[in-house]
Amino acid sequence: MDASSADMSSVKGQAPQNAPHHIEHFSKFSPSPLSMKQFLDFGSTNACEKTSFVFLRQELPVRLSNIMKEINLLPKRLLTTPSVQMVQSCLSHLSFKEVFGQDPVTNQNIQYFLDRFYLSRISIRMLINQHTLVFDGATNPVHPNTIGSIDPHCQVAEVVKDAYESARMLCDQYYLSSPDLVLQELNTDNRNQPISIVYVPSHLYHMLFELFKNAMRATIESHKEGSNLPPIQVMVAIGGEDLTVKMSDQGGGVPFRKMENLFSYMYSTAPKPQMDDKHRAPLAGFGYGLPISRLYAKYFQGDLQLYSMEGHGTDAVIHLKALSTDSVERLPVFNKTARRNYEVTQGADDWCVPSREPLDLAVFRLAK
Ligand SMILES: Nc1ncnc2c1ncn2[C@@H]1O[C@H](COP(=O)(O)OP(=O)(O)OP(=O)(O)O)[C@@H](O)[C@H]1O
Ligand SMILES: [Mg+2]
Repeated sequence: MDASSADMSSVKGQAPQNAPHHIEHFSKFSPSPLSMKQFLDFGSTNACEKTSFVFLRQELPVRLSNIMKEINLLPKRLLTTPSVQMVQSCLSHLSFKEVFGQDPVTNQNIQYFLDRFYLSRISIRMLINQHTLVFDGATNPVHPNTIGSIDPHCQVAEVVKDAYESARMLCDQYYLSSPDLVLQELNTDNRNQPISIVYVPSHLYHMLFELFKNAMRATIESHKEGSNLPPIQVMVAIGGEDLTVKMSDQGGGVPFRKMENLFSYMYSTAPKPQMDDKHRAPLAGFGYGLPISRLYAKYFQGDLQLYSMEGHGTDAVIHLKALSTDSVERLPVFNKTARRNYEVTQGADDWCVPSREPLDLAVFRLAK
């Protein structure tokens, strides 16, 4: 169902106490994902502010209501607190951890919810940002060719260098040294041209900055003080379909058994950052770097994956769409499938659990 066909008159001008009614109403509509082309059209010369406003007036409540409905499907224990407090606790990762401990089903629900909640938030911020940036009438003095927050010629290597420099500054502050960067571009069709795509540079920067911080921390912590640090190698490649950025470090890697934890919200092997230290941004410790970066990649149909060789290092790979026609928003929708994902229960494992004790084969020996 398309929100534009909604009977807006039934909800217009109602008092805030009707908020649940609004949520019921708007959650019946599916969000309308925008393509990169549509984003650019909104920002082109013949774009109309009123059209954009009318679209947002419908689309923002739809996206918000869809995710608000899912909050109700969170575990009962959480819902016993007033809803406002609950939304606050969604935003405050530390309190979440304290409430739930290690119950695997609850943890799975929370991880699933947070992925959808933050992706919805990324998309809502994107819509609001585009509208305000495009229609405030001013051009960006540093990047005059950008359309809102989208750069139609986003030079990937430049963003890699920017993100590296910022991460390096932080790393130098903490460890008093940092690994070098070796950057390679593979543009098979246009060998002498820098690789560029239609993309939101701030999203790409966010992902790369997080990956650099992780790679730097691993490199330094796995090498003795004073020894030569191996560089972080970044390769950028473009083909007919994909734009891929691979970041390889030699930071000792992660055991395979732990790999699936890395994308869990709140999973971190770094000490908890001191919140009172306002002058220093922490290099690690929230456990939000990887899961949020993966959402940015997924938002325009990409992905982010980690491959590790314990004892050597880690490759982090960002896959994005090379063609703007493939870059379409990926949005959560509240429906039966989403509901079912919250109803999983913990059954018995359908694989045998290996015994820790060596089997006493004498028991099976045939009597002579
Ligand atoms: N390149 C890497 N090499 C080794 N371990 C890594 C690497 N990248 C991530 N990790 C492990 O994954 C964990 C989670 O990473 P993530 O970036 O999500 O959180 P964080 O770095 O601990 O904190 P922050 O949210 O501040 O980034 C890290 O604590 C670290 O143990
Ligand atoms: Mg990190």
